Parts: sequence; C-alpha cells; structure tokens
Amino acid sequence: GDETIVVIPGDGIGQEVVPAAVDVLEALDLGFEFASYEAGDHVAEERGTPLPAETRAAVEAAEATLFGAAGETAADVILPLRSAVDSFVNVRPARAYPGVDAVRPETDLVFLRENTEGVYAGLEHRLSDQVATGTRLTTRAASERLAEFACSYLADVETDSFTVVHKANVMGETDGLFREAVFDVATDRGVEPDEVLMDAFATRVCLDPTQFDVVVCPNLAGDVLSDLAAGLVGGLGLLPSANLGPERGLFEPVHGTAPDIAGEGVANPSATILSAAMLLEFLGYDAEARAVRGAVESVLESGPRTPDLGGDATTDDVTGAIVERFDVE
Ligand code: NAI
Ligand code: MG
Repeated sequence: GDETIVVIPGDGIGQEVVPAAVDVLEALDLGFEFASYEAGDHVAEERGTPLPAETRAAVEAAEATLFGAAGETAADVILPLRSAVDSFVNVRPARAYPGVDAVRPETDLVFLRENTEGVYAGLEHRLSDQVATGTRLTTRAASERLAEFACSYLADVETDSFTVVHKANVMGETDGLFREAVFDVATDRGVEPDEVLMDAFATRVCLDPTQFDVVVCPNLAGDVLSDLAAGLVGGLGLLPSANLGPERGLFEPVHGTAPDIAGEGVANPSATILSAAMLLEFLGYDAEARAVRGAVESVLESGPRTPDLGGDATTDDVTGAIVERFDVE
C-alpha cells in the first residue's frame, strides 16, 4: 500500500479517538501515509470557516478519509465532506457484541442510508417569523444508485434480500419514487426486497431486530432509525459508518464530540476503530479489516473497557489492548 489516508480529528473526543484509530492502522504496517487536516468549531474560531478549503481539497483528492466529529459546526463540516467524496450511501452497521450490555443482544443489521437527498437536501425556507417550509427531494438517479449498491452489497454479507423502509403511503410522490426506483433495480438484479413502513419498522426493530438484515432507506429515516438501533446495541461508542462514493470513502463514527467527557482521555475508541476497519475493507485489505474487527470484539468481550461500557480503562488502554490482539490470517 502506498495510499495516503486523510485524517480529520475535528473537535472534542474526535481529537482522542481518531489518533487511536490511526495507531491501530499504523500497527498493521501497511505503508499508509497519514495526512492530517483541520475542521470543526476550533477552526471556525481561528479561520472564520469550520471547513478550510485545503481540508475539502484533500478529501476530494484522497481515496479514503478518516473523520472524527465536529461540534456545533457539524452540519457545515460533514455535509460538504460527504459531497466531497460524492457519497451516495451511508453504510451503518448496528451489531451487539458479547460482553456489552445491550437492550437487544441479538441485533445484527446494517442500514444503507441514502446520503444526499430527502429532507436533508438543504431546501428550507423561513417564509416569515411564523411559517417555514422545506422541500423534500427524491431523484430516480440517487434512488437507483443506492439500490444498485444494495444489490451488490448482499453478496458481501451473504444475504439474498433486503428490506426497503419508506413512507410511500403518505409521501406518495417522494417516497413513492424512491420505492419504485429501488424495486425496479432490485427486479432487474433478481432480488426480491421486503418493504416496511418507517413507523412500523421502528416498533418491529425494537421488538425483534432479527427480522432485519440489510435495511435500505431514505436519508432522514436512515439517520433516525440507525440511532435507534444504536440504542438497541448498547450505545453510540460502538457504531461505525462509511460514506461511500463511486471512487472515494469517508469513514466516521456515528457519535459526535461528546463534550461531557472530552479531554479526559476516556472516550471509547471502538466506533472509530471499527470505522477504520470499514476503510481497510474499502481499500481491499479484507484480512486486515477482519483482524481489526476481531481484536475489537475480543477486547469488548474481555475488557479493558471504557466508562461508557462500565469499565474504568482509558482510550489508550483499550487501543493498546486492541493492537495486542491482532491476528491477521
Ligand atoms: P454525542 O454522540 O457527542 O454524545 C452523546 C452521548 O454519548 C454523550 O453522553 C457522550 O459522552 C456519549 N458518547 C458518544 N460517543 C462516545 C464515545 N466514543 N465514548 C464514550 N461515550 C460516548 O452526541 P451529542 O451530545 O448529541 O452531540 C455533541 C456534539 O457533537 C454536538 O455539538 C453535535 O453537533 C456534534 N455531533 C457531531 C456529529 C458529527 O460530526 N458527525 C454527529 C453527532 C453529533
Ligand atoms: Mg445522526
């Protein structure tokens, strides 16, 4: 490997968990170069923008970026960064791990969330101090691109179908088009998806998450339902994500800057290290990705654990234990 990985720690615990994940990647000795860039609240104060042009340009040029989190400026950082990698899908696995207290320990599913449209397209207007409106954007192209990805993804996870979550019974045009485009692609590819209305999905996934495996959804539904799934598996410190484009990827934990614990050195690095495993997989290092995931699982099961999981270990203790437990085939 001669890849350059762009690294953007951001604010708060991003400054702690991103270096931890870089330590893990460095320990694999794959010859990566790491190029560190700034973004977030602390940059906005100094530079008048939370996302300096050189940071965006670096992400646009790199195959893979590892991002931590930004604070108040999160939307002004992460939305442009997702578009810098032309990301059309946000992959969010939600898995419970042995040794971690989970509401639903049998949970093991992955959300494939549309990443550019819906109510997050930025088409909002304040008409007066009494009235605001928003436009919900759905295009056939974005919906089909997501569905194509979903069909290909099934082979990776050895599954033959996915569940489409939508609310086309009420939003007949926007979610109607989404649903239609997803089913058209699936039919062409010989896949027969299930479908569940988004509100019913919220209940069903709480009662029995084993009904679901790969879940394909519009932007807002994917955001909310994947956070709900985080609650089922024992919290935000464990959930990784990948924003994938046709050529580039941006990998980040689902959690934010955790201002309540930032600076104490006790943030759980697992979500970011698992995001780094998704980065490895994206770059084609499958065995290394499995080794990292295996080491994280082993440490979650036996400890050391950070305080969010009931332990008293530091970020460094956990990272060190993960590095010690690699077993690359
Ligand atoms: P948060 O995810 O930062 O924290 C929620 C709770 O989970 C806190 O109690 C925190 O201590 C805990 N937590 C989160 N990650 C943890 C970890 N790795 N280890 C241990 N505990 C962890 O969400 P919150 O509090 O809603 O937002 C805080 C800030 O983060 C806000 O300024 C928000 O805008 C930003 N944010 C940024 C995101 C991004 O950059 N992608 C995503 C979500 C929030
Ligand atoms: Mg969210």
